Amino acid sequence: MAAVEQPVAPAPATVAVQARALTRRYGDGSTAVDALRGVDLDIREHELVAIMGPSGSGKSTLMHLLAGLDRPTSGTVTVGGTELSTLSDAQLTLLRRKAIGFVFQFFNLLPMLDAEENVLLPLSISGEKPDAGWLDELFARVGLSERRHHRPAELSGGEQQRVAIARALISRPTMLLADEPTGNLDSATSSGILELMRDSVEAYGQTTVMVTHDPRAAATAHRVLFIADGLIVKELAAASAAEVLAVMGDISA
Ligand SMILES: Nc1ncnc2c1ncn2[C@@H]1O[C@H](COP(=O)(O)OP(=O)(O)O)[C@@H](O)[C@H]1O
Ligand SMILES: [Mg+2]
Repeated sequence: MAAVEQPVAPAPATVAVQARALTRRYGDGSTAVDALRGVDLDIREHELVAIMGPSGSGKSTLMHLLAGLDRPTSGTVTVGGTELSTLSDAQLTLLRRKAIGFVFQFFNLLPMLDAEENVLLPLSISGEKPDAGWLDELFARVGLSERRHHRPAELSGGEQQRVAIARALISRPTMLLADEPTGNLDSATSSGILELMRDSVEAYGQTTVMVTHDPRAAATAHRVLFIADGLIVKELAAASAAEVLAVMGDISA
């Protein structure tokens, strides 16, 4: 039988996280704040996406909803094919632990634990055994192999954020979310952290969404989403720092 030539359609990129018509209202009545007013977004697997926008535009609210740390007023968030609203609190906690790594601006390390114990905490909580090879590799990647038994108070800000990134990656999450990860660091230290975020996308195919105010940081992302007043108002792919800066100027004006 003669082979029939079929046109081969390109495989669609797999979506790691999706939001549809996402809204979040804080409070009610005359003092209600509409922090998000209808956000649609698709983050593809292995994508590094930067989120930018003026202070108060809804960036942290969006990150918390994508991470399942907060529930939307309306609309849906789907992570790795699971719609978060269908989950109970207990199921959501489990999914978060497995699928989502979160890096905060202020590191959020536990002061009485050393670096290694902080990194292992997500596994300890769920009673999982760490993979020693992966733990060693993560410490090497974040450049802290010699600091594993230092407590946060004995580490610089940049080193503490490196510990927090290793902690976010230890469970090999579907996606890494970082809310202004360099917002509390000087610019030299920030560059190292951003390199590390970019590295982890390249080395581990780690889908990553990062809020930043730094146009140079945003320029390292595959895509930049701009938020203003609770809505995504603009999107750039493979943008230069100058292009990012120009859009920020427009939005703030
Ligand atoms: N827990 C909260 N209660 C009431 N209003 C809030 C709360 N969190 C954020 N907001 C308001 O929602 C809006 C968006 O905040 P946020 O998402 O933190 O913005 P961004 O991270 O872009 O600075 C702001 O007007 C902020 O004051
Ligand atoms: Mg914020």
